[in-house]
Amino acid sequence: MSGNVRPETMARIDSPALAEQFINEQITALREQIGDGKVLLALSGGVDSSVVAALLIRAVGSRLTCIHVNHGLMRKGESEQVIEVFRDQMKANLIYVDAVDRFLDKLAGVSDPEQKRKIIGAEFIRVFEEEARKLDGIAFLAQGTIYPDITESVGVKAHHNVGGLPEDLKFDLVEPVKFLYKDEVRVVGKALGLPDSMVYRQPFPGPGLGVRCVGAITRDRLEALREADAIVREEIGALPEVPWQYFCVIPPFESTGIRYLGGKGERYMGWAVIIRAVNTVDAVTASVPEIPFKVLCRMRDRIIKTVPGVNRVLGDFSEKPVATIEWE
Ligand code: XMP
Repeated sequence: MSGNVRPETMARIDSPALAEQFINEQITALREQIGDGKVLLALSGGVDSSVVAALLIRAVGSRLTCIHVNHGLMRKGESEQVIEVFRDQMKANLIYVDAVDRFLDKLAGVSDPEQKRKIIGAEFIRVFEEEARKLDGIAFLAQGTIYPDITESVGVKAHHNVGGLPEDLKFDLVEPVKFLYKDEVRVVGKALGLPDSMVYRQPFPGPGLGVRCVGAITRDRLEALREADAIVREEIGALPEVPWQYFCVIPPFESTGIRYLGGKGERYMGWAVIIRAVNTVDAVTASVPEIPFKVLCRMRDRIIKTVPGVNRVLGDFSEKPVATIEWE
């Protein structure tokens, strides 16, 4: 598929049968494009790059190398799932890079959100570049570009797409889902046998938990955020109507708590966790869904009981505008 305009004749992929047809067409097209060449893919575990990986595994097998960079800002269990699904189940050629210390050391003391985003984006390219240089004979770079990435100027995916690679690593691009809308990518992902938790995953910003650990990131606060976020995802994700995005934020300040040890009250300082859930069509405006009070209380209890350092649970029910979806 060449050019950047979706062919008018292309049917909307909204059924397993149409997904199968798309998959078969793409396997043929990918084999034609790639020949006996080798392909590299940055695999975040998001639905777009996961679908591209699964398509390429079917088309070229071990001539695909996936690189998964764990920057320490992933949600709980995400890197583990990438390894399980792609390395263990699909037998992909997967390079797992534990770059947690590298990212967190670079981010230490940095509180400006744009600076944080820049550091995360630049470091990601650097890690990917280092890994790519260790490989021989790569001719193609696969990307999970989808149609809205081409048609919308917002470009929130700039971080994911490895556009900042140096000249000598500018491989030919392989973008098998570039004419698909998100809902179509999900239908294809399902047909490819990817787990629902990957296919129906809520949107997650490229800089990950980095922009939800407000201000300068510290490892202990980041860990508390990751644990609280997992609880919120589990509870809100089980509602009959799942919101578009739902997550936690941890602000960089403490508040007073009280705990009783041997019947004696002791005041101490702890963190607050903020629960945020929004519905939106295009992320330009967002409304706030109603979450049953008993679910809110259950999340509060689970977070307070199990997440070290947290003594307060708050809710953000601000709409966009005027509040953005993310806190920074
Ligand atoms: P805001 O906070 O601007 O977010 O209302 C709108 C949507 O964009 C996501 N978002 C990002 N995605 N890199 C990304 O890939 C980013 O730096 C980034 N910042 C915000 C946010 O999660 C929401 O879905």
